[in-house]
Amino acid sequence: MLTLSRFIFITAIAGAVSAKQHQKKKSCHTSSSSTPEPTDVPGSGGVQAGEYSMSENWVGDSFYDGFDFWAYPDPTHGAVQYVDKDTALANNLSYTSSNSLVLRADSSNKGGNRKSVRLHSKKKFTTHAAVFDVKHMPQGKATWPAYWTCGDNWPLQGEFDIIEGVDDSASNLVSLHTGPNCQMPKSGLDMSGSATAWDCDASSKHSQGCSVRNTASQPFGPDFNSQGGGWYATERTDSSFKVWYWARNDPNVPKDVRDNTGSASPSEWGQPTAAFMSSDSCDLSKQFGPHIFIINLTLCGDWAGGKFDGGKDACNSFVSDHPEAFKDAYWDINRLSVYEH
Ligand SMILES: *[C@@H]1O[C@H](CO)[C@@H](O)[C@H](O)[C@H]1NC(C)=O
Ligand SMILES: *[C@@H]1O[C@H](CO)[C@@H](O)[C@H](O)[C@H]1NC(C)=O
Repeated sequence: MLTLSRFIFITAIAGAVSAKQHQKKKSCHTSSSSTPEPTDVPGSGGVQAGEYSMSENWVGDSFYDGFDFWAYPDPTHGAVQYVDKDTALANNLSYTSSNSLVLRADSSNKGGNRKSVRLHSKKKFTTHAAVFDVKHMPQGKATWPAYWTCGDNWPLQGEFDIIEGVDDSASNLVSLHTGPNCQMPKSGLDMSGSATAWDCDASSKHSQGCSVRNTASQPFGPDFNSQGGGWYATERTDSSFKVWYWARNDPNVPKDVRDNTGSASPSEWGQPTAAFMSSDSCDLSKQFGPHIFIINLTLCGDWAGGKFDGGKDACNSFVSDHPEAFKDAYWDINRLSVYEH
């Protein structure tokens, strides 16, 4: 007897090699047909980091206007079934209040892949700053949540992973994935995090992108949630990608970030947690096209499954048999604001 979910489950196991090898197989599948060439970032020549004004302020219900529910099989082979908006709302996997959006994995049904949600912004962005104010991120064994941006024709128009980690790890990994010929310098980047990989080329066999570990305190998982979450802010220019993080109780949260003032001044946010810069060995303006924002939650899959005790096989059974383990596998988001010049 081969039910559909069983089939997906088996396919997922068959696809397992090693967690590291497989991370390169990420894709955001942003568009169905057209795959434009990588482009220069329009209108960005010579623009300095500095003042940006708000162009999107997604809060509560407005997330449903700005984002689509992406209901396709998980490209990273997770034990999830991404559902459409009607299904998500009917199953209470997503709901809003005037100042929050909740996105969660199912925590009541047994058997097969677990229902989950993945949101894609309708609009694409090039140079911008963004503030993601989060109360709670998915936590628990086997969870693999992410907040990231991605272009078409992966990886040729790039991927920027802002929050990503698995399985209650205490730390968060910030990464870029690009096409060929993009290396980050091994020293000289002004950031507080520690680089763990320098080759951003995700098209070649042996690279999973360039990464920086967020070494701030309480950036991820249960630690992050226990103190009320915090803010992840980003800035993309034609020559850099930067990430800042402030915990909820941090006394030094910049006013524009904390108080949603309608503008953003990354040049005043201090040293970033992670920074990726153009150099002779990487022209970021050529590696990145227009990006959508993605908020997702998968379970097991290439990374979290690979790390699970007993491997993917055990991970998928755990997901199937233990709905109660996913009570805390939810995002509770205050706002996502995007600022442009
Ligand atoms: C979730 O986000 C990460 C971003 O790092 C991406 O690589 C992965 O493919 C996504 N997984 C799913 C299941 O959508
Ligand atoms: C959805 O879940 C939340 C949190 O558990 C709960 O407060 C709310 O009443 C639920 N809504 C419905 C319609 O079941």
